[in-house]
Amino acid sequence: MAKVKYTKVMKCDDLGIGKSAIISAGDREIALFNYKGKYYALDNICPHRGAPLGEGRIEEGVVICPNHEWRFELKDGQCPQNPELKTEVYPVKIHEGKIYVRLENPKTEAVTGSASSVLPSDLKFTVPTIQKPRNPDEEL
Ligand code: FES
Repeated sequence: MAKVKYTKVMKCDDLGIGKSAIISAGDREIALFNYKGKYYALDNICPHRGAPLGEGRIEEGVVICPNHEWRFELKDGQCPQNPELKTEVYPVKIHEGKIYVRLENPKTEAVTGSASSVLPSDLKFTVPTIQKPRNPDEEL
């Protein structure tokens, strides 16, 4: 069985509760969120028209696209408005205060039965942005 690879993306301390970061990893962009102390990684490119989900706001565990407000569950990428639509999610692990993301494409693995051999060599970050919940009662 192929070994699953996770890539270190940043320190937990650099992504406080309620913040997000956009990570460039090869030809991909990942939106990384710290929601209530738990980390989630989604494809940054909105499947509608490509707006950056990492700049969206979060409400009740759902990231809202900054352009046309399509919504995606942080936990599984599912769109609550349309069960047939979802965006890619990436497994996240925390180890010794650092955030690791599994960047291989799970769909590719399902087809080939092995981990992708293509791992991004260059990781870049944008400055984390503060997510402001619309519901003031909700804690981030
Ligand atoms: S680009 Fe995201 S909802 Fe339109």
